[in-house]
Amino acid sequence: MMNAMQARYELAQVVARRAGEKALEMFRQRDSLVIESKGLQDMVSIADRDTELLIRAEVQASFPEDGFLGEEGGLERADARFLWVIDPIDGTACFVNGMHAWCLSIGVLCEGKPVIGVVYDPNSDEMFHALGGHGAFVNTTALQVAPATALSEGVLGVGFSHRVPVSAFIPFLNRTLSDGGMFIRNGSGALMLAYVAAGRLIGYYEPHINAWDCMAGIVLVREAGGRVNDFLSGEGLLQGNPIIAAGANLYPTLVATIDPAHGDVPSPQAQTLAVFV
Ligand code: IPD
Ligand code: CA
Ligand code: CA
Repeated sequence: MMNAMQARYELAQVVARRAGEKALEMFRQRDSLVIESKGLQDMVSIADRDTELLIRAEVQASFPEDGFLGEEGGLERADARFLWVIDPIDGTACFVNGMHAWCLSIGVLCEGKPVIGVVYDPNSDEMFHALGGHGAFVNTTALQVAPATALSEGVLGVGFSHRVPVSAFIPFLNRTLSDGGMFIRNGSGALMLAYVAAGRLIGYYEPHINAWDCMAGIVLVREAGGRVNDFLSGEGLLQGNPIIAAGANLYPTLVATIDPAHGDVPSPQAQTLAVFV
């Protein structure tokens, strides 16, 4: 079992670096890319599609029995023991507009549980990686979430997409700022979750995110000693859910800031429902 897991952990990093180098070449020549719209503030280019094809091909060459869920190519072999959940370029709006906050995100589930997380940022050459039970790292440095106990003690990462109503988000921002907090949205949820694992951000909240955006980040944050909501509850894998991640000291405060009605530590179901009311 461990060898099977370790082999995939190593491959995820090799593939992320190789695909990341190709994506970086395309980023440097982005003026020649044709950008298509998939919806409101939702873009895609050949760089997203080619990068995903490269990752799929390399994974399938080594592990043809594994399943795959990718943002651009959808789901294959859903009932496989190992399911690779990937976003070839997270932060596409940054990528196509020449900003550096984008990354490749590769998560792996084993029998439905997130066990491997790799987020590679080619612009900074930072490889965030974690294997369940073995800690989280950026390159060779071990990661630890921030010790913050209050929102005023650091910067919170946030994400928002027009998949949810604006009214579901603004009260949360209001409470965060009123409590002395500060937020940042850099355009890549996967990278901000990696920054939570690294203790650079004290937490992350987004009212709806997809599995390919956050699967790697969930493993990274947990392995760096942080807490994450039960993202996979209900239809999380295929339909997405809210994501809440923070150090253990801050997590109950972050949950209460998102949804004061449910108090300190609501059930995963309450967390999921609460952010949609
Ligand atoms: C998006 C980014 C963004 C988050 C959105 C995602 P994309 O992914 O992660 O930060 O707020 O929910 O859809 O479109 O850049 O791959
Ligand atoms: Ca994404
Ligand atoms: Ca993407």
